[in-house]
Amino acid sequence: MTYAAITGWGKCMPPAVLTNADLATFLDTDDEWIVSRTGMRERRVSHVSAIEMATVASQRALACAGLKADDIDLIVYGSCSNDEQVPNCASGVQVLIGATNAASMDLNTACTSFLYGLSTATAMIRTGSVRTAIVIGVELITPYMDWTNRNVAVLFGDGAAAVVLQASDRKEGLLGEQLGCYADARQILRVRGMGCSYANRGVQYGDTLWDFDGQEIFKRAVKGMAQASEKVLAKCGVTPDQIDLVVPHQANLRIIEAVARHAHIPMEKVFLTVQRYGNMSAATVPVALVEALEEGRVKPGSLLLMPGFGGGLTLCSHLVRWGDRVTPLATSDAELPPCPRSALELVNEIRAAKTAGGASEAALMNTRFVEAGTRA
Ligand code: ACO
Repeated sequence: MTYAAITGWGKCMPPAVLTNADLATFLDTDDEWIVSRTGMRERRVSHVSAIEMATVASQRALACAGLKADDIDLIVYGSCSNDEQVPNCASGVQVLIGATNAASMDLNTACTSFLYGLSTATAMIRTGSVRTAIVIGVELITPYMDWTNRNVAVLFGDGAAAVVLQASDRKEGLLGEQLGCYADARQILRVRGMGCSYANRGVQYGDTLWDFDGQEIFKRAVKGMAQASEKVLAKCGVTPDQIDLVVPHQANLRIIEAVARHAHIPMEKVFLTVQRYGNMSAATVPVALVEALEEGRVKPGSLLLMPGFGGGLTLCSHLVRWGDRVTPLATSDAELPPCPRSALELVNEIRAAKTAGGASEAALMNTRFVEAGTRA
């Protein structure tokens, strides 16, 4: 039997930090409300395109695996905030890293896109259609945010991470997963204006309406992640006490605590990033995985549980056996360009562009993202 070992990992976090106090300068909110309801204290705002973040994360993951770009057979780009729909974004990463032998695909299941991508790439390695893959989770949410809506504007941030998968005879990597979707409730988590307004590239800064039923999402997220976790553990013959670390989707600290309670796993075994990064949708789980490795929380042979939940309402839980190596083989010198502005300045630019309309939107695109998009 062929398995898909995770042999490389890398993240790319944009440097600009948006604090709860920053949000309170233009929203009727405060640090106490945000921390007590969500656990979030800060999140990142990107000054570059999603493809650029994904590229740096992929270059770091490749170096970590000790591979060259032309060793890669497949790139899976998991995201719901694509810079472009056509051409796909995976091909943008492919050309920037120089993965000349790869096939490239985008995959959107919202917050679960990285985990669904892990399933997809692992399955393709198991069948033998590819041997080496990069799976990316990336999100550039801040340009699409409705910054007048305090219900959602405090919850999200930008970021990216990637893993390298390689065919292996050893029983490691993804051992099993439970996938599902509460499609009957798909309307409770919807961003209107995202994905249907591509008349020109500037339109992605146009109006968006975030239709979120926070409390219903909360309940479904807990139920979905808890049940998927229970099912994947049963399928794989694993008991909760055998799990070494839970690396969950991080939409809200209270959701994570409830899922851990239902799964009978103590919070000491749960890895958290939600305080520092908020909800980065598809990037959340891989960024948390990379940081868990950096902090020594993943040991050789560790058994990891990764529950996820997102728009659709997609849900899943993945069981991963880590291999022997928990340190990178090499490091990459890939870096984002410096960010000359604060996160609040970046957000205020986006807010001003949305208020002013098309002309400013186009100007904003030119200064921030067109160059990277064209290059890719
Ligand atoms: N600051 C201050 N007050 C706020 C804020 C804010 N940022 N946002 C909402 N409020 C107010 C509301 O207006 C409402 O006021 P009202 O009662 O006067 O009408 C009140 O706070 C709502 O309070 P609660 O209902 O007690 O809030 P709750 O505990 O449900 O927390 C939250 C809201 C954080 C959105 C929670 O429901 C949640 O985390 N839901 C799921 C998360 C989510 O939707 N994530 C999006 C992605 S989905 C995913 O990734 C799984």
